[in-house]
Amino acid sequence: MNKNKLKKIVKKIFLNFGLNNQHAEISSNYILRAELFGASSHGLTRLKMYCNRLKRKLINPKPKIKIKRISQSISHIDANNAIGFVAADIGIKKAISSAKKTGFGLVGIKNSGHYGLSSFYAEQAVKKKLMVWCFTNAPPAIAPFGSKKALFGTNPLCFGTPTGNKTPFILDTSASIINRGKIRRAKKLGLSIPSGSALDKYGNPTTNAKKALEGVQLPIAGFKGSGLAWMVDIISGVLTGANHGGKVKDPFDDFTGPQNVGHLFIVIKPSIFVGKSYLPQIRKNIKAVKRLPKSSRIKQILYPGEKKYANYKKNFKKSIEIPKNILKEINKLNVIK
Ligand SMILES: NC(=O)c1ccc[n+]([C@@H]2O[C@H](COP(=O)([O-])OP(=O)(O)OC[C@H]3O[C@@H](n4cnc5c(N)ncnc54)[C@H](O)[C@@H]3O)[C@@H](O)[C@H]2O)c1
Repeated sequence: MNKNKLKKIVKKIFLNFGLNNQHAEISSNYILRAELFGASSHGLTRLKMYCNRLKRKLINPKPKIKIKRISQSISHIDANNAIGFVAADIGIKKAISSAKKTGFGLVGIKNSGHYGLSSFYAEQAVKKKLMVWCFTNAPPAIAPFGSKKALFGTNPLCFGTPTGNKTPFILDTSASIINRGKIRRAKKLGLSIPSGSALDKYGNPTTNAKKALEGVQLPIAGFKGSGLAWMVDIISGVLTGANHGGKVKDPFDDFTGPQNVGHLFIVIKPSIFVGKSYLPQIRKNIKAVKRLPKSSRIKQILYPGEKKYANYKKNFKKSIEIPKNILKEINKLNVIK
C-alpha cells in the first residue's frame, strides 16, 4: 500500500481510539518509520496491541505529562501512562535541548509504555550532531543467568553518534539474540524463528514461535547479555521510578494495569573533550575498520545502522507490503467506533 495512504489510515485509527491529533501524528509516524526501516516487528503488527490498551485506558489517551526540571541538564518525566512513542518523543527532545545548552542532557521517564525502536529517538539526537544513549526496559522475556524463569525484558541498548557523513552510526540491539517482536510476528504469520534464540517451557531449544513465547528467550553472549539486560532494567526502571524486576506488564496479554515502562536518555555534545577534532577522528576510526581484510562470506564491513539506512532509502520509494492477516487487523480497527 502507498505509504502516505497507510499513514493516514494508521493516524485515523489512533484518533478513533482517543489520541489527540499531535499524539496520533507522532505515533503513526513511528509505526510507518519502523516499516520503512525494515523493522516490521515494531510496525503495523503492533497496532492492534496499542489499540487494545487504549480501549481499556491502560494507555492513557489524554495524559497529563509532567516534566520536572532537576537541573539545567537533567529532567525527570512522569508520562502518566501516555503511549510510549509520545512520552519518549518528549523525553528525547528535552535531552537534546539540554545537551545543546550545557553539553549534556539526561532524561529519565517513568509511567510510559512500549516506545518501539530505540533508534527512532537516537537518530533525532544524531541529526542535531549529538551523541546519544537510549535505554528502555520491557516485559519479562529473558531468564536471568542461572534461572529457568523469564524476568528481564529484551531491554535494548542503543548508542548513536554523528559520523561526518549522511548515515549515522546507530547501534540498537536487544539484550536477547532477537527482539521479541520478531517472535510475535513469526507466530502471527506462521513462520519459524532462528535456532539458538529461544527455549521452550521445558528448557529445550525451539524454532517454534508459539513455544518460544511460552518459554524463555536467550540473551546475547550468555551471562554477559544477562548482565546487560539487568543493567538496562536498573537504569531504566530502578533509577527512574518505573516498574522493574519483572514487573513491567506485557502489553499484549496483561491487562491488569498500565505497563509503567521506564526509559533513560543521555545526550552529549561530541566536542566536550576534543573540540572540533571529533568528526575527523571518527571518520578515521570508521575508515580503519572498513579497510580491514574481509572474511570470505562478507562483501562489505558495515557499521551499525548502515544496513537499516540502506533499507530505508530503498523502501521509501516503494509501497509497503502488508501480510494478509495484518491487513485484516488494520481493516477491522479502521471500522471500529
Ligand atoms: N521497545 C522495546 O521494548 C524493545 C525491546 C527490544 C528491542 N527493541 C528494538 O528492537 C531492535 C533490535 O532488534 P534485534 O535485537 O533483533 O537486532 P537487529 O537485528 O535489529 O540489529 C541489531 C544491531 O545490529 C546492527 N547490524 C545488523 N546487521 C549488521 C551488520 N551486518 N554489520 C554491522 N551491524 C549490523 C544493526 O544496525 C543494529 O544496530 C532495536 O531497534 C530495539 O530498539 C525494542
